[in-house]
Amino acid sequence: MPNAIKPTPMLLLHLIALAFTLPAFTASNEQFVYSGFTGATNITVDGSAAIMPSGLLELTNGSYQLKGHALYATPLRFRRSPNGTVHSFFVSFAFGIISAFTDVSGQGMAFFLAPSMDFSTALPSQYMGLVNDRNNGNASNHILAVELDTVQNNEFGDIDSNHVGINIDGLNSVNSSSAGYYDDKSGSFYNLTLMSSEVMRVWIDYDGEAKRLDVTLAPVKMAKPVRPLVSSTQDLSQVLTDMSFVGFSSATGMVNTRHYLLGWSFGMNAPAPPIDIAKLPRLPRAVGPKKGVLVIVVLPVATASFLLTVSVVAFLAVKRHVRYAEVREDWEDEFGAHRFSYRDLYCATEGFKDEHLLGVGGFGRVYKGLLPVSKLEIAVKRVSHDSKQGMKQFIAEVVSIGRLQHRNIVRLLGYCRRKGELLLVYEYMPNGSLDKYVFGCDHNHNDNVKLNWSQRFHVIKGIASGLHYLHDEWEKVTIHRDIKASNVLLDNQMNGRLGDFGLARLYDHGVDPQTTHVVGTLGYLAPELARTGKATPVTDVYAFGVFVLEVTCGRRPINQSSDEDNQLMLVDWVLENWQKGSLIDTVDIKLQGDYDTDDACRLLKLGLLCSHPFRNSRPNMRQVLEYLDGDKPLPELSPANLSFYVMSMMQNEGFDDCIMSSCVTSLATVSDLSGAR
Ligand SMILES: *[C@@H]1O[C@H](CO)[C@@H](O)[C@H](O)[C@H]1NC(C)=O
Ligand SMILES: *[C@@H]1O[C@H](CO)[C@@H](O)[C@H](O)[C@H]1NC(C)=O
Ligand SMILES: *[C@@H]1O[C@H](CO)[C@@H](O)[C@H](O)[C@H]1NC(C)=O
Ligand SMILES: *[C@@H]1O[C@H](CO)[C@@H](O)[C@H](O)[C@H]1NC(C)=O
Ligand SMILES: *[C@@H]1O[C@H](CO)[C@@H](O)[C@H](O)[C@H]1NC(C)=O
Ligand SMILES: *[C@@H]1O[C@H](CO)[C@@H](O)[C@H](O)[C@H]1NC(C)=O
Repeated sequence: MPNAIKPTPMLLLHLIALAFTLPAFTASNEQFVYSGFTGATNITVDGSAAIMPSGLLELTNGSYQLKGHALYATPLRFRRSPNGTVHSFFVSFAFGIISAFTDVSGQGMAFFLAPSMDFSTALPSQYMGLVNDRNNGNASNHILAVELDTVQNNEFGDIDSNHVGINIDGLNSVNSSSAGYYDDKSGSFYNLTLMSSEVMRVWIDYDGEAKRLDVTLAPVKMAKPVRPLVSSTQDLSQVLTDMSFVGFSSATGMVNTRHYLLGWSFGMNAPAPPIDIAKLPRLPRAVGPKKGVLVIVVLPVATASFLLTVSVVAFLAVKRHVRYAEVREDWEDEFGAHRFSYRDLYCATEGFKDEHLLGVGGFGRVYKGLLPVSKLEIAVKRVSHDSKQGMKQFIAEVVSIGRLQHRNIVRLLGYCRRKGELLLVYEYMPNGSLDKYVFGCDHNHNDNVKLNWSQRFHVIKGIASGLHYLHDEWEKVTIHRDIKASNVLLDNQMNGRLGDFGLARLYDHGVDPQTTHVVGTLGYLAPELARTGKATPVTDVYAFGVFVLEVTCGRRPINQSSDEDNQLMLVDWVLENWQKGSLIDTVDIKLQGDYDTDDACRLLKLGLLCSHPFRNSRPNMRQVLEYLDGDKPLPELSPANLSFYVMSMMQNEGFDDCIMSSCVTSLATVSDLSGAR
């Protein structure tokens, strides 16, 4: 029956997205970060480069015709085998270029990957200390460079005197763009001036799979813009040697210019660790009064300072107005008490600084904040949302949810609206989300974050209780729609709390009913939800079942480490083990056998029962609580009758309906089993 399984574009998209989020376990990982270079080890410098007492890495010092390099002292392995593909890598750095003049500067600087740390034959000036006039562009250089170029050299086809370029083996760029960034909200392009003496950041992301190199530039205070400045599709395995050095190169010509690196982080097959912006050293002041080198304008000092003052004041006023601008409509008056001012949220998160970033979820970025007056710790989620449709209804719901108080539900304190953006304010959960404990994927915590058996059981009970409250006890039936380990947060007493409330709902509003827009997460979607797009309490129960299994088994709902197709879904894998009489083997090995066998089996069976493909066979949350408390025994259940229901569902509802969910693989399992009998 393979033709019964029709992967939808949606499914493919999900799978692709999933493939990208998976860490490559087998590949070599290398990460390092320098937030300032004071006492930095593993950095080698040559030429004019030096680490200053302030922690700045000075690449050039203002003298003429200099070249300077700073490299990570050991070469890194960029691919596993000689002809293998180059790994993904991520680079982030903060830099500043100071020129003695406002309108010209010496050459720029470049981040590079190169086979050797010997640049003795490279030339300064326009060759940027990377190559010379004979070997520019020669494929035997094996150099990848990202240049921040402040001089237009026609010989290299430079587009202007202020650009970011991607270069292979020399100074001619394969792609380049004038310096600047695309604003996340408006999509508009803003110019930046590389030699402005302002600190800026660059991100370089190479996706080894897609062979795509993205370079993004932004002022240092800004989070990484989503849209890269310049990209190129380059199979770097054709360029790089297996082992390459990573570092920076810079050169001056005939103009007094200094190039500085303030911070640098790198990750191979892993994100570049965050640079601590607060710890970055300061750029020195430009030497002497800056003046245009070509035009000498003499203005009375008084006039100049008057004009300056006026424009600074006007600029600040406009900037302040733009920075804190909000969207407010009349109907919102009644919700005033739940409305936060953007300014407060901006202050609370110190301008949505990177170091306050708690995580990036499906709907947006979450920042930690401290409210200025009340000193209340909050989590602010920024959701980009353009549709005005359904906004009123959604806000009404936010406010209604805000009144909801239950010890297993994260409190939603209020909201704020800006153009194209909604900010939701939640109470802050100090222990973060459950997935990092269960899957142990958090790099900062490694192995010391574990939940023992009784804590897991406690969390599951808590979530069951929260969900029961939403479904049956709150003033109206409320569906969560996106239950999963990463949406469960732990408070300071390690109680599980349901978070991300109602967001899935926002995306349901204003959607054309003709197109089934499924909200939720692949692996947690009940078959009928995938089919009809209609969320009900029992679709929540389905996701809860998957959640119980993931917490008990310590595995993600879609298991990627397995090669066999029929082990893709956690639900099916547990079911199969049950069939084979090895149900207990599915319990998380990280628990090292330290658990109650009866409880574990009960939880696994309960998980399977809740994730029953046939919706009428799933219990409601009240029953789930009774089973969990041991007040009632689980109904008689065997892997065979779960399979039986799959069969009957197939007969009732047809194969075509079985897309995008565990029933696809359940069918495979069932046919395997019947064959075996
Ligand atoms: C320096 O390199 C060595 C060997 O690669 C590594 O073990 C060490 O952690 C590195 N130190 C820093 C500060 O990166
Ligand atoms: C800059 O560095 C070069 C080479 O290290 C040195 O000769 C020169 O004196 C330095 N210039 C200044 C202004 O420090
Ligand atoms: C790698 O590729 C080159 C050319 O593409 C080929 O000549 C060489 O034999 C290959 N090496 C290995 C180990 O496969
Ligand atoms: C590139 O460099 C290699 C080695 O230095 C040299 O043999 C070759 O002639 C160069 N190619 C060109 C086109 O200059
Ligand atoms: C941005 O830079 C480009 C190219 O240098 C220039 O054409 C454009 O006018 C600049 N825009 C602004 C707003 O300064
Ligand atoms: C150059 O980069 C821009 C910006 O990312 C991208 O839109 C364009 O397709 C790239 N051009 C080439 C030839 O890769």
